[in-house]
Amino acid sequence: MTALSVSTSSATALRADAVVIGVAKGPKGLVLATGAEAVAEAFEGRLADLLTTLGATGAEGEAVKLPAPSGAKAGYVLAVGLGDAEGGFGAEALRRAAGVAARTLAGAKKAGLALPAESPEEVEAVALGALLGAYDFTAYRTAEGGKEPVGELSLLTTRKAGKEAKAAVERATVLAEEMNRARDLVNTPPNDLNPKSFAAIAQTVGKEHGLKVEVLDEKALAKGGFGGILGVGIGSANPPRLVKVAYTHPKAKATLAFIGKGITYDSGGISLKPAGHNETMKCDMAGAAAVFAAVVAAKRLGLAVNVTGWLALAENMPSGSATRPGDVLRMYGGKTVEVLNTDAEGRLVLADAIVRAGEEGPDAIVDVATLTGAMVLALGNRTFGVMAGTDEYREKLHAVAGRAGEQSWPMPLLPELRKGLDSPVADMANMGERMGGGLVAGVFLKEFVADGIDWAHLDIAGPAFHEGAPYGYTPKGGTGSAVRTLVQLAAETAQG
Ligand code: BES
Ligand code: MN
Ligand code: ZN
Repeated sequence: MTALSVSTSSATALRADAVVIGVAKGPKGLVLATGAEAVAEAFEGRLADLLTTLGATGAEGEAVKLPAPSGAKAGYVLAVGLGDAEGGFGAEALRRAAGVAARTLAGAKKAGLALPAESPEEVEAVALGALLGAYDFTAYRTAEGGKEPVGELSLLTTRKAGKEAKAAVERATVLAEEMNRARDLVNTPPNDLNPKSFAAIAQTVGKEHGLKVEVLDEKALAKGGFGGILGVGIGSANPPRLVKVAYTHPKAKATLAFIGKGITYDSGGISLKPAGHNETMKCDMAGAAAVFAAVVAAKRLGLAVNVTGWLALAENMPSGSATRPGDVLRMYGGKTVEVLNTDAEGRLVLADAIVRAGEEGPDAIVDVATLTGAMVLALGNRTFGVMAGTDEYREKLHAVAGRAGEQSWPMPLLPELRKGLDSPVADMANMGERMGGGLVAGVFLKEFVADGIDWAHLDIAGPAFHEGAPYGYTPKGGTGSAVRTLVQLAAETAQG
């Protein structure tokens, strides 16, 4: 990964391939952002005009290069847009601009970031955006000539930010590395990432970070009565796993359980998905990836809270041994479910994990899942849906996500949708009304949450995987959706 350090040297004194400055849209045209002063001085007051001549306006997403002025030690200046100048820039504008800069700098060895970075919050935003924007998934590329991510970034800040700047960069580095870990897991093709190999990665990485990792294989799952996870995984040559990753802190006053949907490939099973709907279904373990990354991050940040991650891993495949529409599964804890559609598999693996996690009596359970196409239709590709056992806990998670810098939206668990899940043969069916399908899935999960435990469900089917052109700090493919929200919840819980 790109290395990032803090420096208080001047933007013109830095020896590098490039120096990055911020520009914004003012009422009378392009304006230079804080941090650009030294570079502007070296241009003897002509910088804003030069950039305007080159077509720059300061709009978000813009990246304009120009040769460095004499007197500056960098090769070129890269101006990135921060959007509207009015009222100052929010953290998200800084993260996105830094992300655009880092992506544009691919191929360069070293660059300075002279973006607004006077407060620790600004420093953290610039660092996080840059490290996320520099991400590239290269593990499967053999062709020569591709550009490497920028090697080294020097974040330029004023002396004022001091010690706090260093702590802010350390926090941003942990978050970025863990989000990039989640992205790597999502991007790894499903012929290499299956339940067994995912569990092995969790064991290796968990050990590296001093976490307790326990893996239930298919035999242990059968012995334990995990009918949901087994029912989904039974059609695949790659058997399912349930992984528990535990982080404990001696001063913890609360315990959080995070549960991730980990379908390493979702073909739909016997209710097979048609072509056009299965090409990106390696992303169906993004919830488990986010949960795992968040537990590692909580440990690396030393948060004073206990966090248990549960990865419900299975591959959903059609075969002679696969679960059929019409089969009844006996779930962990004893409830029975009639499987009407084998493509509604996420709720089945989650239900087992929710009951299992509930047995340990955590203060709260948050599950994260690429659960429904309906949620993508409702909220689009950049926003996850938040559902919960109570209005208060739903609003809390929505607010936590906002503070973490993630887009989410509260969705209701309408009680009238429960009736659609009635089954003539079992306690419940795994599919109900088509309308409001994202909420129906949430209503199904709610049945498995023990009384007295706060519970929230994040449906990240939209934002988990990005198919369009990269923007801001978001690359193509896995995004790391929900990692920041989970870490933010853990951090706020630790603070009490
Ligand atoms: N993994 C899918 C949901 C999904 C869709 C994730 C698009 C990411 C992008 C899930 O398992 C699924 O197939 N859900 C069905 C449920 C239906 C059969 C009740 C769906 O949404 O169509
Ligand atoms: Mn499915
Ligand atoms: Zn799925």
